[in-house]
Amino acid sequence: MRFNVISLMPEMVETALQFGVVGGAFKKGLCELSLINPRDFAEDNHKTVDDRPFGGGDGMLMMAEPLQKSLDSLTPSGPTYFLSPQGRRFDDSMAREWSQDDEITLICGRYGGVDQRFLSHNKITEVSIGDFVLSGGELAAAVIIDSVTRQIPGVLGHAASAVDDSFKGGLLEIPHFTRPQLWNDLGVPPLLLCGDHRKIHEFKQNMGVLVTLQKRPDLLTARSQDWAALIQYVSKLSEDNLVPLGLQKGEILLQLKEREDNG
Ligand SMILES: C[S@@+](CC[C@H](N)C(=O)[O-])C[C@H]1O[C@@H](n2cnc3c(N)ncnc32)[C@H](O)[C@@H]1O
Repeated sequence: MRFNVISLMPEMVETALQFGVVGGAFKKGLCELSLINPRDFAEDNHKTVDDRPFGGGDGMLMMAEPLQKSLDSLTPSGPTYFLSPQGRRFDDSMAREWSQDDEITLICGRYGGVDQRFLSHNKITEVSIGDFVLSGGELAAAVIIDSVTRQIPGVLGHAASAVDDSFKGGLLEIPHFTRPQLWNDLGVPPLLLCGDHRKIHEFKQNMGVLVTLQKRPDLLTARSQDWAALIQYVSKLSEDNLVPLGLQKGEILLQLKEREDNG
């Protein structure tokens, strides 16, 4: 997969993607990064890429022409997106979808943004990483590339790692524990130590729903769930399996009954 990034500060994107599994994916050639700097296409001696907005207002805007030349230098074969706080909010399902593309082009704004005519002329879709304003699109581009790269087969060492990540199947991943078994008088859920893979799998599945119910109940609204079966499972579960996950049996049973009553 190839990521093209148009940016006035390409080093920011390049540096952010040099580490960990994502850095490894670029080094192994599982994906490629092409950085294009609009300043290289500026026409005057000062390499000007920005100007004041018509109608006044604070700050500067990126001019359309150097951006257009940057885009034309690429002839991208895949979709092109402009990073913008006004765009559709990027999420995990988009990361999975985008990882199916062979090529993606991301355009980073700076200053007060870009001349709107560049976006309109090229019919470019805007994408945001959240309802806040960054100083530039570079960190947003790096965030998106990181999350898309994780979805590319072979990038994560262990084949199942991405499958268990939060948001897969609409649930959050459950908390994990490692050695020592007892730390600061805190134990781990006994079921995780029982050695019975079927029981462990069932426990993890059900805890995924409970943890999501606690932390992000909004994710469960569209989910069809057998709440009665879950109530039965939790009722039989000893408290020491729930406490390490930050769950209280009485409280969680009340929430489950409420869900069951509401259908
Ligand atoms: C200071 S911001 C400009 C914000 C713009 N004046 C507005 O209020 O919509 C500069 C650039 O940072 C990037 N940016 C800022 N916040 C972002 C976000 N939440 N997601 C993606 N990109 C963002 C965009 O490329 C934007 O053009």
